[in-house]
Amino acid sequence: MRDPLAAPVPKRRLIAVYPGSFDPLTNGHMDVIARGSRLADQLIVAILSNTQKQALFTLDERIAMIRDATAALPNVQVDSFTGLLVDYAAQRGANVVLRGIRAISDYESELQMALMNRKMRPETETIFLMAAEEYSFISSRMVKEIITLGGDVAAFVPSAIAERVRAKVRETK
Ligand code: PNS
Repeated sequence: MRDPLAAPVPKRRLIAVYPGSFDPLTNGHMDVIARGSRLADQLIVAILSNTQKQALFTLDERIAMIRDATAALPNVQVDSFTGLLVDYAAQRGANVVLRGIRAISDYESELQMALMNRKMRPETETIFLMAAEEYSFISSRMVKEIITLGGDVAAFVPSAIAERVRAKVRETK
């Protein structure tokens, strides 16, 4: 194990990747993006393009929604990726992976993912932001379920994308 005090700390830009499925983007994600954009020089919101997982919103819809919601944050970019997150981070020159943690139940899988990623690419540090209390109960999985059952999710998603989400509710009815 490398001695963390032995190496000089290089001055460098903090380029963070915030990966996820974002199906759809929620107020909880938005909180992490806004806070992450204040910490990082550049924040790349990277949507996993997963052909195996059945998504409610297409990749293009998710990209458009996140672009709309983050339009006021100049250092935030929206992108998609396939394959390993650490490979994507390397390709984008990112030194940090950003993730949010809502509750202790998130911790176990997030820890495992961070350790696996660190083993594969030690240069990439994972930074966790604790979710804001008011959003800590929101999950994309439940928002998605409410949408497919025709419910109103306006309280759980950024207002900039509420109309697109309503359109999906009408479409799935
Ligand atoms: O929003 P999610 O579904 O919790 O995000 C999970 C995500 C996309 C961060 C994770 O599945 C991921 O990084 N997938 C890419 C493939 C990969 O690198 N797998 C190894 C991680 S240990």
